[in-house]
Amino acid sequence: MADFLNLAGKRALVTGGTQGAGAATVDLLRELGAHVLTTARSRPETLAADGFVAADLSTAEGCKAVADAVQGTLGGVDIVVHMVGGSSAPGGGHAALGDVEWQRELDLNLFPAVRLDRVLVPQMVAQGHGVVVHVTSIQRVLPLPDATTAYAAAKAALSAYSKSLSKEVSPKGVRVVRVSPGWIETEASVRLAERLAAEKGTDYEGGKEIIMQSLGGIPIGRPSKPDEVANLIAFLVSDRAATITGTEYTIDGGTVPTV
Ligand SMILES: NC(=O)c1ccc[n+]([C@@H]2O[C@H](COP(=O)([O-])OP(=O)(O)OC[C@H]3O[C@@H](n4cnc5c(N)ncnc54)[C@H](OP(=O)(O)O)[C@@H]3O)[C@@H](O)[C@H]2O)c1
Repeated sequence: MADFLNLAGKRALVTGGTQGAGAATVDLLRELGAHVLTTARSRPETLAADGFVAADLSTAEGCKAVADAVQGTLGGVDIVVHMVGGSSAPGGGHAALGDVEWQRELDLNLFPAVRLDRVLVPQMVAQGHGVVVHVTSIQRVLPLPDATTAYAAAKAALSAYSKSLSKEVSPKGVRVVRVSPGWIETEASVRLAERLAAEKGTDYEGGKEIIMQSLGGIPIGRPSKPDEVANLIAFLVSDRAATITGTEYTIDGGTVPTV
């Protein structure tokens, strides 16, 4: 069906949009007609300067710069996709995670959404419509020990915050949804699988198998592609999803083993 999804004229902010699922989401929303502003700490040479703002979203100043750029560049916003997130915590279990590591995970996985929403959601409420997508992780329900304990807890906090926000603003016309990915085969994941493969003397598929085993297996047999995550987000931000709010969509190939 032609134009099943049409975002023509919509103004969208996608954070963390230069790599992985963020880059795929920026490309797809633009293809569907949206005016997209994206952000990361640095702009790849391949990405046009137009529609990009450089900022560190783990800081209050960086969030303010992005919120200002939304107003200056887009003149308001209809769609916000909070994609930025990740973990750089060291391995070694919970005892290796000091206050600095915990704060870093919260600063990257919780506070960018909280700070940007505090500025942008009231604008959506004032115009009577808008969609906010918080990208969480299956680790909020399937936390892995070792390095990602604080990341999992930060994503759980993001989920609780998202649900609360949805209750407040859905009656005012603003939808708030969560997308919870399992393993995504991003550029960084490819590098990890290649490194594991080299360590174990196997090939790339063998490296992927090691990662899948660490997750307890993926029933569909492979990770999601970044553009498959983007497809889900594009549907959720479109008018096709007009009554979807306050809920979470998992895209994990069946990884989470429980109902
Ligand atoms: N990959 C997975 O397997 C997976 C699984 C579950 C959930 N997720 C979630 O899905 C989302 C996307 O993950 P991804 O793996 O696709 O991302 P990714 O490939 O690691 O890309 C991260 C993006 O965020 C930007 N970024 C990182 N730190 C930033 C900061 N402090 N301020 C501003 N921008 C920053 C990066 O650009 P710069 O480095 O230039 O700043 C880049 O554009 C994240 O929320 C992640 O937690 C991912």
